[in-house]
Amino acid sequence: ADFDVEYHDALPSTNDRARELAADGASDVAVIADRQTGGRGRRGREWSSPSGGVWMSLVLRPDVPPARVPLLTLAAAVAVTDAAREAGVDAAIKWPNDVIVPDAGDDSGRGGAKLCGVLTEMEGEASRVSWVVVGIGANVDVDPDELAGDATSVRAEVGDVPRRAFVQRVLERFDELRSDPAGIVDAWRERAATLGERVRVETTDGDIEGDAVDVTEYGALVVDTEDGERVVHAGDCQHLRT
Ligand code: BTN
Repeated sequence: ADFDVEYHDALPSTNDRARELAADGASDVAVIADRQTGGRGRRGREWSSPSGGVWMSLVLRPDVPPARVPLLTLAAAVAVTDAAREAGVDAAIKWPNDVIVPDAGDDSGRGGAKLCGVLTEMEGEASRVSWVVVGIGANVDVDPDELAGDATSVRAEVGDVPRRAFVQRVLERFDELRSDPAGIVDAWRERAATLGERVRVETTDGDIEGDAVDVTEYGALVVDTEDGERVVHAGDCQHLRT
């Protein structure tokens, strides 16, 4: 794939290093660390990043308005899902961009254990972004006991995988997907665990509960609720097993 790789044994956060590179004008760099000491998740959460994971941030300069940036996040989830499936893991995507193993994990009822999360950050104007950093945290060669929450890993699901090959595959698939942006949402739909599920989405405006029926052209979730269809742009999604 057309990414220059910058490898570190340890970093506070690959997203922070990628933001520095982006601010200096870099593009198409993949920053990878074997472990992170201050890994960041969505909504200000910490992200457990022990040695053996794929903690990687892509520096991108797409010529698009901010509204289209979520497509790159969806593309990252698709790329990791494909790399995991090729390694034999029964992976699928939980909206918006968690890669999960739907039948793994405890009986909490939330449905599935998390294999990967994506944290996208950007800077720019309303008409055009200046840079985008897509941070991918994939639990590859790690023990789920070292991870927070209901998590799994490629190793826990199928045994050892060569981490280098996994990274290469993610970068190749991401490259293919970004070169055909019109196909990203369909690729996401085909791998979605969320569509057809009963969901509860926690948003900053409160919880929305209903049936997840579709995603829009920019990846927002369409939920069929008691009060009609709602389009949800951001939030934490739970699959409710009823
Ligand atoms: C989530 O909350 O699901 C998103 C997790 C994103 C973690 C990745 S690991 C590589 C990159 N660096 C970070 O500090 N976070 C992202």
